[in-house]
Amino acid sequence: MSSYKLLLLPGDGIGPEVMGEVKKVIAWFNLHDIAHFETETGLVGGSAYDAHGEAISNADMDLAQSSDAVIFGAVGGPRWDDVPYDKRPEAGLLRLRKDMALYANLRPAIVYPALADASSLKRPLVEGLDLLILRELTGGVYFGQPKEITDLGNGQKRAVDTQVYETYEIDRIARIAFELARTRRNQVCSMEKHNVMISGVLWKEVVTATHKDGFQDVELSHMLADAGGMQLVRNPKQFDVIVTDNLFGDILSDVAAMLTGSLGMLPSASLGAADDKTGRRKALYEPVHGSAPDIAGKGLANPIAMIASFAMALRYSFGMVEWADKVDTAIAATLGKGFRTGDIMQAGMKQVGTAEMGDAVLAQLEAAG
Ligand code: IPM
Ligand code: MG
Repeated sequence: MSSYKLLLLPGDGIGPEVMGEVKKVIAWFNLHDIAHFETETGLVGGSAYDAHGEAISNADMDLAQSSDAVIFGAVGGPRWDDVPYDKRPEAGLLRLRKDMALYANLRPAIVYPALADASSLKRPLVEGLDLLILRELTGGVYFGQPKEITDLGNGQKRAVDTQVYETYEIDRIARIAFELARTRRNQVCSMEKHNVMISGVLWKEVVTATHKDGFQDVELSHMLADAGGMQLVRNPKQFDVIVTDNLFGDILSDVAAMLTGSLGMLPSASLGAADDKTGRRKALYEPVHGSAPDIAGKGLANPIAMIASFAMALRYSFGMVEWADKVDTAIAATLGKGFRTGDIMQAGMKQVGTAEMGDAVLAQLEAAG
């Protein structure tokens, strides 16, 4: 039986609550000897800042680097609004992404049949939706230098963020987009703004060149990112894989998330380069949603995105594709049975809290497994 090391980073707000439900799923896999997951737990975000004045400690970074996968909850909250910029909760997540070189962020948006009416779009537009946003995660304006505010001395200040991309960064994310498309419906739409951004000109040029370099069987199209946002709410089913930069990917994935009815439904995987010798990739799995401080600690949070993120770990880190499918099916079946957390509640359905939802998914997994 394979044995894997997981680092759990529950973080802030609803993070620990939704992580609690994943822990049940992990324990279930261990109990049934399907795989052996060894877990350690660390601190990230505001909780790490409170404990040792940094958004993540070097010791927890070391644990992350040596783990087979990091399972991450959520960070942030109004309590830490006034901490120094480089120590804000989000800095912990950004350090994990950057230091582990997790450049490929997979954000699938799938509409579960039972939830098609929970979307803000009409059912026919979203029914059966299955698209994947592939977001570049370690470059662009998130990390480009300079990034600073300068005092101009005349009562004015100047703030600079830098959008920067090099050829290799665009090429490697484009390759992943084409490879993923081959396992799906074989279409990639690349989004940038080459009409106003010179980095967009290079982005489009490199994606086109990479496509010619062995991926011509995949259908490639290009769209300006603003038009892409519009098309995502006009006719989302036209898309299969969308590949885009760090900032556009942040925005477009929130839009895509809402198509599915709730931000509480969307998982994500952040992957690094494959190791030359082992073929293994460093990886972090996290829900797309944030720490939801308004409902934290009340047992109301939807754990589905977190559980589905663990399913992505089974799929992309541990080669347990069948088990990943079973977890996804268990989630769909739970929704099919009418279980709903508050964020996706509909008339006539059964409203449950975080733990009941986690138990219901586990019961479905047990029934199928
Ligand atoms: C996301 C989040 C993060 C981001 C924040 C928490 C730094 O919005 O993962 O989409 O902007 O990347
Ligand atoms: Mg975001």
